[in-house]
Amino acid sequence: MNFSLSEEQQMMQKTVRDFAEKEIKPVIGKWEEKGQFPREIVAKMGELGLMGIPIPEEWGGVGADFLSYVIAIEEISRASAALGVILAVHTSVGTFPILNFGSEEQKKKYVPALAQGKMLGAFALSEPDAGSDAANIRTSAVRKGDHYVLNGSKIFITNGGEADVYTVLAVTDKSKGTRGISAFLVEKSTPGLKIGPPEKKMGLHCSSTCQLFFEDAVVPQENLLGKEGEGFKIAMSLLDTGRIGIGAQALGIAQAALEAAVAYARERKQFGKAIAEFQAIQFMLADMDTLVQAARLLVYRAASLKMQGSPHSKEASMAKMFASDVAMKVTTDAVQIFGGYGYMREYPVERFMRDAKVTQIYEGTNQIQRIVIARNLLK
Ligand code: CAA
Repeated sequence: MNFSLSEEQQMMQKTVRDFAEKEIKPVIGKWEEKGQFPREIVAKMGELGLMGIPIPEEWGGVGADFLSYVIAIEEISRASAALGVILAVHTSVGTFPILNFGSEEQKKKYVPALAQGKMLGAFALSEPDAGSDAANIRTSAVRKGDHYVLNGSKIFITNGGEADVYTVLAVTDKSKGTRGISAFLVEKSTPGLKIGPPEKKMGLHCSSTCQLFFEDAVVPQENLLGKEGEGFKIAMSLLDTGRIGIGAQALGIAQAALEAAVAYARERKQFGKAIAEFQAIQFMLADMDTLVQAARLLVYRAASLKMQGSPHSKEASMAKMFASDVAMKVTTDAVQIFGGYGYMREYPVERFMRDAKVTQIYEGTNQIQRIVIARNLLK
C-alpha cells in the first residue's frame, strides 16, 4: 500500500495551495461579508484549469486523476469552503453528468465550456418536500412533440443563481417510481425557468444557494440526459462521486481549523506561558490532528477506488460522513482554543465552524450516509 502522492498529485497540491494562499485567503473575508458570489476568483480558477481538473484533455479539461481533483478541493476549502463547494458541485454533479451520460452533441455543447470555466454547472434534485427522500420528487416533465414541459420547484441549489446549465431531475412517469425519473440539461435562459433570490445561510455566505421554479418551462427533447427513466440511477451514481468531493471540502475546513488552533496556541499566553504548554490544550490538538489524518485516509481511499474503477458507493459515504463529523468537531474545538476571540468575526475560526455544519447535511445527510453504508454492508 502506497501512502505517498504521485509527482502529478504533489504538483496539483502545491499549485492549488499557492493559488489559495495568494488569490483567496487575503480577500475571502470581504466576499463572505458581502455575501457576494466571488466571480473574479472563480474566473481565475477557470484560467488556471481548476474548473476542469478531472475532465479529459480532449474535452477541454486538465486530464488529471480523480485524487488530484480531490486534493484541489481540499486545498481550496482550506482557504474558503464556499469556493470549495462551488468547485465540487460544478465538477462532480455539474460536469460529470454530461461527460458520463451525455450524447456526443451534449458533450460538445457543454463539457469544454464547463471544463474551462466559461460556463458554471449545477445540480437540481432536492425539492421542498423531497430532500433525504429523493425518490419522492414531484417536479414533472411532460413530453410535447419535440420538447418537454417542466413544472415544479427545486430547493437549496448550490451555484443556483450563477450556473449556466443545471442537471435537473424530474418525473416523466409517476407510475414507475424511481424508474420514472429522468434527467434533463436545463439552460439558465430556458423560458419558464425562474431563479429565486439567494438564500441567507449560516455559512458559505459567498456561495450562491437558490430555489428554482419551473412554470411550463420548455426544454428541448435533445436535452434529455441518458434515456427516460434513467434519471434516478444517474443521480445516485453522481452522488457517489460528489460525496467524495464533500468529504474533501470538510477535510480542507478541518485542516484549516487545526492549523489556526496550533498557531494560536503557540502565541496566546495565559498564566505566564503559551497555552500550547498546557496539557489540556495539547490533548485537544492531538485529538484534532488524529481525526484530520484519519479523515484524509478515508477521503483519499474513496478517491483511489473511484480512480481504479472499483465500486465506491459505501466508501464515499463513509468518507463524507466521517470527514464532515471531523470538520464539525475540529472547528468547534478550534473555537474553544481561541476562547472569546474564537467567537468573534475578526478571527477565521468562527467561519470554519459555521461552514463545517452544512457538510454534515448536504449531498445526503450523515443519517442517509449510514443508510447507504448499512445497505452495502448487508446486501
Ligand atoms: N448507483 C446507481 N444506482 C443506484 C445507487 C447508486 N449509488 N443507489 C441506488 N441505486 C438504484 C437502485 O439500484 C434502485 O434501482 P432498481 O430500480 O433497478 O432496483 C434504484 O436506484 C432505487 O434505489 P433505492 O431503492 O435504494 O432508493 P431509495 O428511495 O431507498 O433511496 C437513498 C435511497 C440512498 C435514501 C437516496 O434517496 C438518497 O441518496 N437520498 C439523499 C439525497 C441526497 O443525497 N441529496 C443531495 C442533493 S445534491 C446536493 O446536496 C449538492 C449540494 O448542494 C452540495
